[in-house]
Amino acid sequence: MSIDALHARQLELDLYMIHAGKDPVLYRSVGSPYTPGDTNNLAEQGVAWLYVPTGQHRVFQRILTENLVRAYEDAALPPDERCGVVRSSCARLIHDLMRYPTIPGITETLGEICGYFSMWCADDLDRFAELLDLSARDYESTTHMVNVGVGCGLLWREFKGPDPERLREVFQGGLLHDIGKRAIPDDVIHREGKLDDDAWAMIRDHPITGAELLARHKGISHAAMDMVRDHHERPDGCGFPRGIKAHEIGVPARVCAIVDTFDSLTTARKHRDPLPPVRVLASLREEAGTLFDTGALDAWDRTIQRLIQRHPERCVPDSAGIDTPKLRLIVPSAPKQAIPRSPDAVVGPGARERECDIPVRIARAGGATGEPARLVAIGPGRVRLVLSGAPLRVGERCRLLMEGRPGVEVIVGHHHFGPGGEVILECETMRRGRAA
Ligand SMILES: [Fe+2]
Repeated sequence: MSIDALHARQLELDLYMIHAGKDPVLYRSVGSPYTPGDTNNLAEQGVAWLYVPTGQHRVFQRILTENLVRAYEDAALPPDERCGVVRSSCARLIHDLMRYPTIPGITETLGEICGYFSMWCADDLDRFAELLDLSARDYESTTHMVNVGVGCGLLWREFKGPDPERLREVFQGGLLHDIGKRAIPDDVIHREGKLDDDAWAMIRDHPITGAELLARHKGISHAAMDMVRDHHERPDGCGFPRGIKAHEIGVPARVCAIVDTFDSLTTARKHRDPLPPVRVLASLREEAGTLFDTGALDAWDRTIQRLIQRHPERCVPDSAGIDTPKLRLIVPSAPKQAIPRSPDAVVGPGARERECDIPVRIARAGGATGEPARLVAIGPGRVRLVLSGAPLRVGERCRLLMEGRPGVEVIVGHHHFGPGGEVILECETMRRGRAA
């Protein structure tokens, strides 16, 4: 535990010190006196953390929760300090759950804290909203999860109202949403740009891994489980791990997707600075209805705008010089499993050259429908098709259909034959609305 969290006069825990990877050494045992002077001495020695035996974790959790509640309700404490204690206590519990997933009682403790969050959020929204950290901090998994938890509750309250039980569930799902990242090495989590197959498989599977982990714990609501499992699903079906779409994704998970993306972009990464919240809101808005639920996004926009108006000093100011990345690029690129299952989603503006294998049917202009083909490569404004039947004529227009979705219209550029005699068509996509 952080030495800042030690307030006891008489210790209820055995505390250990660890020096440079050596075995833990007992610092003070249960019942020993402890004073603020001890905290100062430890700090002067460069000791920031003390360690608690696993068998005493339930006591530790109770102390953390008491500290958190005391700090939040202490009217004399400056907001920065109050929020710092609450955030760091939550981050500590999440960190412990990620590191030691069998610790008894830890999800119940987090559930209890979510109950306090729900009460505080319904009681005084502005005071509670200060827990959302909009500062230019570095990305770190546990602090990100705390912020997403707080943000999900704020968004839900704005979107759906202050029902205390629902709010508690949404806080819980947000706090735990990335719990499945526990097995992913840091260098993969912080990697930007293209991922190799192994790294992508880890990222793709973390929502399922997280849901499986939580299924072994008590007191996790259905809403929270859905948020953990589905927070990377997108309304247009291009998300992961299942590629479900629109109303197949529960509202709590759609809420989580927005707050998760927002917080990821407003934090600093190794290769880029944090982005201003207003700029990120504008980027999210460009993807309303495709990547993000429109109603939930409106509620998040109102929530953040209100926070910025109240405390403009708390967030990175907007600056015309900052280039916000296209949100599609934050979906890890592009091994085969990552290919969105809709041609519509992959040939639009911003699509990049990809290899894929999507079954489609070709609807010709004359009305003959159903010739099967495979869409094997795509890029901005073009597709490559493989089929075994007769090639289409150069200049012929047709529509590509897949799984009953609206088709993509293409015009055949030229054809050639593959090594197995298959026909390969190079096609250009037609702009939407242009007559075929
Ligand atoms: Fe995630």
